[in-house]
Amino acid sequence: MRTGLIKQSLYLELLRSVPSFQSLPEDVLSKVADVLEETHYSESEYIIRQGATGDTFFIISQGQVRVTRQKSTSEEPEFLTTLTRGEWFGEQALKGEDVRTASVTALGRVTCLVVDRESFMHLTGGLDDVNSKPYESDDIKAKLEAESVFFSC
Ligand code: CMP
Repeated sequence: MRTGLIKQSLYLELLRSVPSFQSLPEDVLSKVADVLEETHYSESEYIIRQGATGDTFFIISQGQVRVTRQKSTSEEPEFLTTLTRGEWFGEQALKGEDVRTASVTALGRVTCLVVDRESFMHLTGGLDDVNSKPYESDDIKAKLEAESVFFSC
């Protein structure tokens, strides 16, 4: 019980430090801090595999991750970016189709806070920078454009 409360306040502190979440009311962050799960990964472990289905959103609590994308199975994965503590990923599969658009692997030991789809909606429903994060990938742009055409009809 005690550990639960200490962890809940550590999670809340991390959520408060995420720039994208800065405008969110305390009660929203607190509810999300109550329900998220902490997960641990070791060096090179896959957190997300491109092409898999998924319905979870990740916030990095400790360590760094590497994002890569493979254009086709015969090509080498292309390095996209590294993300670190306080940054997040996994939002694309929670919008529209639930297919992961890139792979994310641990660079050393990593701890993530994992938010399920329902809490993600609660957390990010009104956040433009999460809902329309710009990526360079043409495929993702095309997917977002197709969705916006669909929703404007
Ligand atoms: P999702 O598709 O759910 O799972 C893989 C995640 O990698 C994706 O959500 C984004 O959070 C992230 N991602 C995808 N493409 C890029 C990119 N070009 N730059 C940075 N992160 C990306």
